[in-house]
Amino acid sequence: MSVGQSAVSALDAGGFDAAPLEELLEKYRGQRGTLIPLLQGTQAAYGYVPREAMVRVAEELGEPLSQVFGVATFYAQFRLVPRGKNVIRVCHGTACHVSGAPLVSQEVERNLGIRDGENTPDMMFTLESVACLGACGMAPVMMINDRTYGKLTPDKAVGAVKEFRAAQEVGAPVAEAVVNDAEEGA
Ligand code: FES
Repeated sequence: MSVGQSAVSALDAGGFDAAPLEELLEKYRGQRGTLIPLLQGTQAAYGYVPREAMVRVAEELGEPLSQVFGVATFYAQFRLVPRGKNVIRVCHGTACHVSGAPLVSQEVERNLGIRDGENTPDMMFTLESVACLGACGMAPVMMINDRTYGKLTPDKAVGAVKEFRAAQEVGAPVAEAVVNDAEEGA
């Protein structure tokens, strides 16, 4: 722990909560081939891979920071920026694409004032285009966190986002997933 303590102090001084990362480092200490598991664990703990964590992982593994950064940027699974409090995933799989997903995304982007992959300034939402969500029978589909919204039109999608935001702002539970004219998914 002594090697890491100075680094931990420095990171803490910068506002980075190093405790979850230190637990991970402890778990994998002495093992080989742990870079990917460490990055995965970091993302699970923080929601993304903070730069401070990459610095600490590089130090722990005795690797250049460029190596750690290179791996983190190579794999699409790693996010290097924080996510918003809620994640909106608009499906762009084939069934959703041909059913109007591009227009759904366009309208949600316009409403939120952000583009695909970005966070709203208040960090309420992150918007992501994703591949098949496994509910092709309800295409086009989007999810807000773990809630699925199907048979969307652009207006319905924006309405769902607005309803979700309103519920969040008053602390009310969000209504069950909107599955218009429900047809079970594929
Ligand atoms: S293509 Fe969108 S849910 Fe399958």
